[in-house]
Order: sequence, then C-alpha cells, then structure tokens
Amino acid sequence: MTHALFEPITLRGLEVRNRIWVSPMCQYSVERQDGVPTPWHLVHLGSFARGGAGAVLAEATAVVPEGRITPHDLGIWNDEQRDAFRPIVDFIHSQGAAAGIQLAHAGRKASTHRTWAEQHGSVPADEGGWTTVAPSAIAFDGYAEPAALDTDGIHEVVRAFAAAARRAVDAGFDLLEVHAAHGYLLHQFLSPLSNTRTDAYGGSLENRARALVEVVDAVRAEVGADVPIVVRFSATDWVDGGWTLEDTEQVTRWVAEHGADMVDVSTGGNVPQATIPVGPGYQVPFAAAIRAATGVPTAAVGMIDEPHQAEQVLVTGQADVVMIGRALLRDPNFALRAAAALRVELPYAPRQYHRAPIV
Ligand SMILES: Cc1cc2nc3c(=O)[nH]c(=O)nc-3n(C[C@H](O)[C@H](O)[C@H](O)COP(=O)(O)O)c2cc1C
Repeated sequence: MTHALFEPITLRGLEVRNRIWVSPMCQYSVERQDGVPTPWHLVHLGSFARGGAGAVLAEATAVVPEGRITPHDLGIWNDEQRDAFRPIVDFIHSQGAAAGIQLAHAGRKASTHRTWAEQHGSVPADEGGWTTVAPSAIAFDGYAEPAALDTDGIHEVVRAFAAAARRAVDAGFDLLEVHAAHGYLLHQFLSPLSNTRTDAYGGSLENRARALVEVVDAVRAEVGADVPIVVRFSATDWVDGGWTLEDTEQVTRWVAEHGADMVDVSTGGNVPQATIPVGPGYQVPFAAAIRAATGVPTAAVGMIDEPHQAEQVLVTGQADVVMIGRALLRDPNFALRAAAALRVELPYAPRQYHRAPIV
C-alpha cells in the first residue's frame, strides 16, 4: 500500500506534514461586517488542524473592504484583523498543521448577498453594499455594473495584496494563496470575457496577465524568499472565447518565474452560463496537464472525496497536493480517516481523543 498522501512536502522554507490541504472556504460569518475573524473561524479552521490536515487555508480574505464577496467576509486590510488571526494561526500550529490564507479581491463579484440569504445578487448601497470595481465596466450576469479601474486603481490593488501579505505573515501564516480563480478580480483581468481594456492591462495574454504577475511580484518582494506563494487559477471558463487551459499553462510559467511555488487548479466562475461536467475528480485533469506542461507543482481540487481517490491523484503524478473542500466540512477528521483507510499510522491524532481511535 502506498501512502503518498502522508509524505511531507517542502515548499521554500516550509515543510508540511502531509498532502491533504484544506481548500479555502468562505464562511460569510463576520456578523459585525468589519472583516475581523470570530470564534467561528477559530473553531472552523482549528477543527481541520485537529483532524490531521497538512495545511489549513483560511477562506478568501479581502485585501480591501470593497474586495469582499459579501459584507460578512474576512478581511486583512488592517491591524485589528491581523491581530485577530493570530490565535487562530497559533491553534493551527499547535496541532502540527501549516496555516495558509487565501488573499482575495472579488472585483465585479463583490458586494453580494450570502449564499444562504433569501435575496440574490448585489447588495444595494442602503443595505451596506458598495460600487464594485473590475477591469472593465461589464457586469457579471444579474449583478450591478462595476466601475472600470484606472491605472492608479490597479496599482492600489497590487499594493493592497502586498500589504495584506505582510499582515498575514506577521499574523503567523506560513503560506499565502493568491486568488486568481472563480471569476474574482484577478481572473476578471485574465479572461477576455471580462477584460476588454485597451491599455497595458488588456488585449494580449501578456497584458491580461499583467495585474496578476504584478501581484505575485509585489507579494514576493514583501514577504521575502522563505514564504511559499500558491496561485489559484480557474483553468478554463468552460465557454468558447473564454480563458483556456493553454492560457493557464502559459500564465503558470510566468507566475512561477515571478516567485510562485505552486498552482492550485480549479475551474469556472467567470460566467454563469458555462456548462460544467461536474463529477468525481472532474478538475484533476487540468492540474495534471499544467503539471506536465510546465513542471510547476500543482494542487488538485474538486470532488476529491475519498481517501483512495485522493491517493490515486498523487501516485499517478497528477498533482503534488489535494485540496479538499466539502468532504472536510462533512468530516473535519477526513485526514485521520484517510490514514486509517490507507493503513498509515500517524503520530498526530489528538491525544485527548485516544479512547476513540479512528479505525
Ligand atoms: C462553502 C464553500 C465556500 C467556498 N469558498 C471558497 C473560497 O473562499 N475561495 C475559493 O477559492 N474557493 C472557495 N470554494 C471552493 C472550494 O475551495 C473548492 O474549490 C470547491 O468546493 C471544490 O472542492 P470540493 O469538491 O472538495 O468541495 C468554496 C466552496 C464551498 C463549498
């Protein structure tokens, strides 16, 4: 029996104990709407560390207030937020896991209602919403029209990612993920469906990738050589004329040249009318293709729900890490259960629970 899932992996100055990583998952649980983490986030993220995950990535965390998907998102644009992350990071570390955070700006998909709210779409200004920004003034279907960023606005976004990265590292996070997927701001720049600019940030692939490459550069410059940077891509828009796997491969090479260490490969999210063939492991071939074409380490994500399936993704060389989302919401002990299923003895099951071994 192989156990690639439980082989440690080293990225720059960080060794992570295994390859089962927690995919970032928005909780929309900041009731005060100030972006500050709450006890919910401590228990939510902490439970995955206690349950044996290798790295626990905090949800899409906004680098500026207007970059929040909903008014209830986490933020890391001020020191109060940074300080409130510290005990969460400390708890994750106390359980032997690495702590990561996804740095995000939602662009034209910001200022929306929570997924479970009765209303859908954009939150109006008189209910706490705001005018969104994007590469071009093109609305996501059903949402309010965004304002196109000018060049200064783009530079401010780049600086905000770097400042957020600094705060994250100061809070103790070991690993940073730049969110360039799911139709949020950096993906909006990448895709010709949402970026019709005619300046240096639009047009050619190189121009559309410029905002992301500048973000990676600025984050790397801010955090130094030791901190791993992961970039999450949507590898396709799943529609003709949109962003493609080949585009993702080329931009993966560029972000790697500029200091990214791994790409986390999701798909979709930039246009609602895409037809997506959802099923077990449906995005894994994209991670495999990017890894093969570029040599850059990949994380695979999307309906990797079973331990043997996750193991198979790694032993067949399709990815270096699996990101698990909903299977971990269902069972925060997924990693401990996977170890039992693969007959791997782990030294890190919680001692407090020794009378209830997972077999
Ligand atoms: C509740 C929930 C919140 C999510 N929030 C984020 C997020 O903050 N950032 C992100 O990149 N993806 C987010 N996603 C997508 C997941 O990270 C993951 O890519 C997706 O759920 C597919 O993996 P799974 O089948 O293992 O759940 C979210 C998914 C769920 C279910």
